[in-house]
Amino acid sequence: MVDIIKTPMHILNSAQFDRPFLDYMCVLTDTIRRFDKSKEGLLYLKGLLAHRRAMLYFTQPSTRTFLSFQTACQVLGMNTNEIRDSSTSSERKGESIEDSLRTFSSYVDIIIMRTPVPGLCDRIAVLLDETERPVPIINAGSGPDEHPTQALLDIYTLNRSFVRLGGIDGKTITMVGDLRRGRTIRSLSGLLSNYQDVKIQFVSPPEFRISEDLRQKLIQKKVSFEETDQMEDALRGTDAVYMTRVQDEYDIAGESKKVDNSRFHLKHEHLRLMKTTAVIMHPLPRREELDPAIDSDPRAKYWRQERNGMWTRVALLTKIFGVDSKIVLPEL
Ligand code: NCD
Repeated sequence: MVDIIKTPMHILNSAQFDRPFLDYMCVLTDTIRRFDKSKEGLLYLKGLLAHRRAMLYFTQPSTRTFLSFQTACQVLGMNTNEIRDSSTSSERKGESIEDSLRTFSSYVDIIIMRTPVPGLCDRIAVLLDETERPVPIINAGSGPDEHPTQALLDIYTLNRSFVRLGGIDGKTITMVGDLRRGRTIRSLSGLLSNYQDVKIQFVSPPEFRISEDLRQKLIQKKVSFEETDQMEDALRGTDAVYMTRVQDEYDIAGESKKVDNSRFHLKHEHLRLMKTTAVIMHPLPRREELDPAIDSDPRAKYWRQERNGMWTRVALLTKIFGVDSKIVLPEL
């Protein structure tokens, strides 16, 4: 078994994941889900990490990521502690965030954190690595920069959706919305560079175009991409459309209100432009950019994507703690 205490496997950004890892995680997640079909299977999973404790440090709002990580821990029998508001911790008394997180590491075996501060997870991982008890850090969203576990579940969802269509290789993926500040966009675009002949279409108003550092990264990785404000053209022929909301929590002075994003809303009438095999995804929460009338269309995958997230996180936790080797199908 991997001695995670000596060599913690931090999950900090999506650049850590290569193709063999992604392929492995997709198979591992599929296999773990089969345990969900019986009481014996679920009890087996519950025994895998019953001796481990997790800290959920979520000081930025979250519904899905928090609940899916908490539930993933429960599926594996882990106990969880949580902080959801730094005003209830000693940070209020002037304790540094570094000292607070070091304190948590004394009590638990892993810290799963969401923060508005870009780069904080990396800093804490380096800090903990220098302590006597370095525990793994999972970045569950760090300001506008990274959301690696969302990218992993997005890849899993794409992979599952294209299972009879040759997988993700060769597909066209269209990302729409606030691409500049959407961390899911940054993390997922990075991961798509692991697939052959993928084309990304970035669709947004000029104000929300991808950031220069992502553009450079994609050029360097030789990812084929284009940037456009013509959503309808991009929808024709795409294999997946990934909608995102305006990330106005990062506004400095209400600047999002000045942007006309209405042309970048996916409406029911757009469905006729799209391939019958296309998939529609959204990391959620949604606002007006994704018409609820689309929910009943078989191409809408966002509710599945949400559920896939929990199972992907179960798989990731087994991997981090080295118990993925114990995932062999029982007699069902
Ligand atoms: C995303 C996030 O928080 O970055 N949601 C999520 O984790 N499921 C997207 C968003 O908030 O718009």
